[in-house]
Order: sequence, then C-alpha cells, then structure tokens
Amino acid sequence: MSDAVLSQFKQEVVEEKKVSDKKIKVGIIGTGWIAESHLYSYLNQPDVEIIAAADLIPGKAEKKMKQFGIEGARCYLNHKDMIDNEPDLDVVSVCTYNTQHAEPTIYALEHGIHVLLEKPFTVTLDEAVEIMKAEKKSGCVLSIGFQPRFDGNMQMIKKIVESGELGEIYYIQTGGGRRRGIPGSTFIEKSTGGIGALGDIGCYSLDMVLNAIGYPKPLTVSGYTSAFFGQNPKYNGADAARFTVDDFGAAFVRLEGGIILDFRIAWAMHVDTPGDTIIFGKEGALRIPSTDCWNGSVGGEMTLYHDICGKQTETKIPLVRSEGSLFDQKIRSFLDAAMNGGTAPVPSSQIIYNQAIIDGINKSSELGREVEIKIPEI
Ligand SMILES: NC(=O)c1ccc[n+]([C@@H]2O[C@H](COP(=O)([O-])OP(=O)(O)OC[C@H]3O[C@@H](n4cnc5c(N)ncnc54)[C@H](O)[C@@H]3O)[C@@H](O)[C@H]2O)c1
Repeated sequence: MSDAVLSQFKQEVVEEKKVSDKKIKVGIIGTGWIAESHLYSYLNQPDVEIIAAADLIPGKAEKKMKQFGIEGARCYLNHKDMIDNEPDLDVVSVCTYNTQHAEPTIYALEHGIHVLLEKPFTVTLDEAVEIMKAEKKSGCVLSIGFQPRFDGNMQMIKKIVESGELGEIYYIQTGGGRRRGIPGSTFIEKSTGGIGALGDIGCYSLDMVLNAIGYPKPLTVSGYTSAFFGQNPKYNGADAARFTVDDFGAAFVRLEGGIILDFRIAWAMHVDTPGDTIIFGKEGALRIPSTDCWNGSVGGEMTLYHDICGKQTETKIPLVRSEGSLFDQKIRSFLDAAMNGGTAPVPSSQIIYNQAIIDGINKSSELGREVEIKIPEI
C-alpha cells in the first residue's frame, strides 16, 4: 500500500476522534428533587458536561452543583438568564414544577436548544399546543420524561398488544393509586403543581395503555375530580390548608377506533387499589396487577386470558427484570436523538393526547358534563 493511501487513513482516524471528544453541553432548569435523578444520569454519561443550572430560589442551584461535585457550572436565578448567557448550551432538562413547564421549554426551543421536559407534559392542553408550535418551528428534539417507557414489563405490554394475541382492543380499564400517599411540597398548590394526582401519577398510567395501543386520538371525556382527602386536616394535617389541586380523578374516555378507556387515579382513598389494569380484546384479555404506589411500574406477574382449541386458558407472563437504570436510558436516548438528528424517544405528538385527556377531565369535571376534545392544528 502506498504512503499516500496510508496517510489518508490516518487522517480519517484523527478526525473521527475529534468529533467524539466534543462534550454535550447541558443545563438544568429547576434544581429541586427530580433534578437530582437527571444529574446522576448525566454524570453517568462520558460525553456530557453540565455547564449551567438555574433555580428561582437564591443559592439553590449553587448548592446542588456543589452537592454533586460539579465544578465550574454557572448558576442563575431563572431559565431566561441562563439561556441568554449560555450560548453554548446544546440541551436542557426542564425539572421545574408543572406550572413552569411551558415557559422555560418554549424559551429553550426558541433559542435552538433541545429539551428533555419532565412529566406531566404541562398543566393545560393550550400550553402543550404552544410548546409543540415552538418545537415545530425550532426543529429541535423535545422528549417528555416518561422513564417507565424503558421498563421491560411496560415494553412487554406493548409487545403483547402488537402481537395480535388480544385481537382488536375495545375496552380498557386502567389507573391506580395509593390508600394514603399525598405528596407535599410544590405538588399540592394550583400555583405550582397546577394539577394533582392526575398530573403526578395519572399521566403514567394513561401512558402505559395508550402507548401499548399506539396512542389513538381521544374524542370525548366525561370526567370527575375531587379533593376530599387533600383538603381534610384529618388525612392531610397542616397541608390541608394549602391543598388546591385534585387528589382523585376518574373518567370515561372515547378513543378513536371505538375504544373505551375507563380510568381512575388517586393519591388517597379508603381502599388499597381502584383495580388492576385490564385490556379487553376480541381474542383475549390482559390483566396487569396494580401497584400500591403508582410509580409507573407493573405490580406483579401479568395474566393473558385466551381460548386455546376451545379451552379457556390463562397464561402467566413472568415479570422482566430491567437492565440498568431507567433514568439513565431516558437521558441517553434523549441525548442520542438530540445530537444525531433523531426522533424524540417520548414524542410530544403522542403525549399531547395524554395531556388532552387530563385537560378534558378537568374541564368536564368543572362543567359537570361530557366534553369533546378539540386539539388545534399545530
Ligand atoms: N420522572 C419522575 O420520576 C418524576 C418524579 C418526581 C417529579 N417529577 C416531575 O418533576 C417536576 C419537578 O418536581 P420536583 O419534585 O423536583 O419539584 P421541586 O419543587 O422540588 O423542584 C422544582 C424546582 O424548580 C424551580 N423553578 C420553578 N420555575 C423555575 C424557573 N422558571 N427557572 C428556574 N427554576 C425554576 C423551583 O424553584 C424548584 O426549586 C414536576 O413536574 C414533577 O411532576 C418527575
């Protein structure tokens, strides 16, 4: 082989190394509780540098950076200051409370920054639509933080539906909750949480089944919400005085394709579970045991009910142990999509339907009647 050919080859190797050496510049907006999981996972990535953080509470971002040993990260008092002063940012994690999901996400997208936005998508459908408009205009990647998507059991539910074992799906009962499990902090006030159990754990349980069946469009919702536990000092102590969101939500939802979704979610109730998730198909049914703390996981071995050669048969689906951290996978898949021009692992085009149902439940509950879901053109 001639020297000319060999040196060409060397050149290629050097250039390839240069590209892989580039660190992805990350900023964190909101340095509260969930930001810690983001920080742990970003620090597990070899190609990431956390260059900035912002929190409304003076000193909070600085304290968090110190706690995680992140030296040199610049700290700011809000998302605007951070984004205006950090032109090198590639991506941000939006870890703010729910009522502050839309504003920082839109601002980041408008500045050409990819966004990993914590769940729930937003508080209202209108906010979700505004975010999607900004996303479309920016061409950036926006992924919503549903880490249960990476759980092997969740993926098995989708595989079972897609395999055709259940036949055509016509009815789903889903939801979950806790006998007593009302959070405190920023989750329970309208000004910060915006929505209660619906947004905290309801969005997960909706995602489990809607993702499995390919996220059909919701058409109508008859919804109900209440706050009998959250607002009662007997069950919620001193927090009852500032509790202004829902602690229970239920709904009857019609989805495109004639599918009925029967849904309920609770932070507190006088029973341990409002029932397992059950997916009814024309050829089979799947029972997914609920957990006593709806954290986006499957509560036990699933059962597939079907007829085999005319015999009513029940097949147990063993639980799958997930490989590695779900949070690391949520972060890595977002980074890969953002840096390689890929599609979002949990796209807004799906989660808009999740948000539309939550929004529909609130509107229907307020009006005391069924509402039609109208999602504007984006
Ligand atoms: N994926 C999960 O497993 C998971 C778990 C818990 C919470 N969450 C979600 O994460 C979000 C945050 O929850 P949390 O428990 O960390 O809340 P938190 O109240 O502990 O933290 C939110 C922080 O955001 C800051 N903030 C608000 N607006 C800001 C802005 N514009 N600029 C800078 N900082 C701002 C607040 O000062 C606060 O410190 C919520 O939406 C919640 O639903 C997700």
